[in-house]
Amino acid sequence: MRAALLEAPNTDLVVVDDVEIDKPQARQLLVRVSHCGVCHSDLHVIDGGLPGMTPTVLGHEAAGVVEAVGDAVSEVAPGDTVIMSLKPVCGRCYFCVRGQPTLCATSNTLMPTIPPPLSRAGEPVYPGIGMGAFAEYVLVSVDAAVKVPDDTPTDIACVIGCAVQTGVGAVLNTAGVEEGATVLVQGLGGVGISIIQGARIAGASQIIAVDPFAERRTLSTGFGATTTLDPADGDVVAAVMDLTGGIGADYTFDAVGNPALIQVGINASRPGGTTVCVGVPKMTDEITIPALFFAMGEKKVTGCFLGSSNPSREFNRLLDLWRAGHLDLAGMVTARRPLEEINEAFADMKAGRGIRTVLDLS
Ligand SMILES: NC(=O)c1ccc[n+]([C@@H]2O[C@H](COP(=O)([O-])OP(=O)(O)OC[C@H]3O[C@@H](n4cnc5c(N)ncnc54)[C@H](O)[C@@H]3O)[C@@H](O)[C@H]2O)c1
Ligand SMILES: [Zn+2]
Ligand SMILES: [Zn+2]
Repeated sequence: MRAALLEAPNTDLVVVDDVEIDKPQARQLLVRVSHCGVCHSDLHVIDGGLPGMTPTVLGHEAAGVVEAVGDAVSEVAPGDTVIMSLKPVCGRCYFCVRGQPTLCATSNTLMPTIPPPLSRAGEPVYPGIGMGAFAEYVLVSVDAAVKVPDDTPTDIACVIGCAVQTGVGAVLNTAGVEEGATVLVQGLGGVGISIIQGARIAGASQIIAVDPFAERRTLSTGFGATTTLDPADGDVVAAVMDLTGGIGADYTFDAVGNPALIQVGINASRPGGTTVCVGVPKMTDEITIPALFFAMGEKKVTGCFLGSSNPSREFNRLLDLWRAGHLDLAGMVTARRPLEEINEAFADMKAGRGIRTVLDLS
């Protein structure tokens, strides 16, 4: 099959047409990928910020049509349209039964199974970040795929698979933002814009959006941002204090993955406020927090993986929000490119052009 291959960190991807993929076993699905969004987590693997085994096929924000199923699959059938998540949710392990599905113990997101299901000329090829969807086909667990109505427009709905479940979920599930809350969002890519949409859906009274890219700041107001800030214009913490009457924001979200910005978020949050770390930092990054922020300031800092979402509940709920006009998916997908333009798609992200580029494999 055709696939975009990363052969070594910090190199361009190359599109090849001779990658072999295993047949689905037991609870696996073979899915014909129709569209896959380009997420910054893929870029972290390319630039070495996240570990990954090479050669690898990246891509984890995908939707498509089931081609074949393993003999223990009854939930979906060939021909069904699915949106996939990079994290299977088994529903039975310690984490799943206590309501923390994104921590499901049955898979390791960064460590592919050995031997991997992909190969090229007899040599192993590793699916990156739990999926490998910059390719014509992907092999996933049925626990990572959600059947959606056949008329779902996968060119825009694929972004539910990562950015939207993460960003909207960070607000509704991880943080539980309540009506009238004040919110700071740093980073206005697909994830940050989804956080803004989640905050708007939750009824936030102020959504303060920060990004160095002017185009993204302008676009963010169409998704619900009430104030935009260029971090180059001065102290974000002071600006948030000004906007919130000297109190600080109820909720702050880092959608960049920069430890300095997590600190900005903690400093910009009010006493008793919550900072949600959504961006993926480098493995070696650390943060220093004044310990008194906790004992006397009651500040909270929490992590967020995939919006603490259970895809089998969230994906169709998010589609319902889209159908009802509460969630803008089309506005997030600002470019569509063929797989051959995968490197240009990453260039879009690095340049902050639009919000999300989606690869069209249909
Ligand atoms: N926790 C999760 O489950 C999860 C899921 C998906 C993505 N992520 C991570 O979320 C982050 C964002 O992903 P994305 O695809 O939206 O990326 P993106 O590259 O499209 O957007 C990141 C944005 O951050 C902005 N930024 C950089 N420096 C900034 C600063 N000082 N202040 C404010 N904004 C700044 C950039 O200009 C850019 O617009 C990445 O680290 C990605 O790996 C995490
Ligand atoms: Zn992602
Ligand atoms: Zn589980």
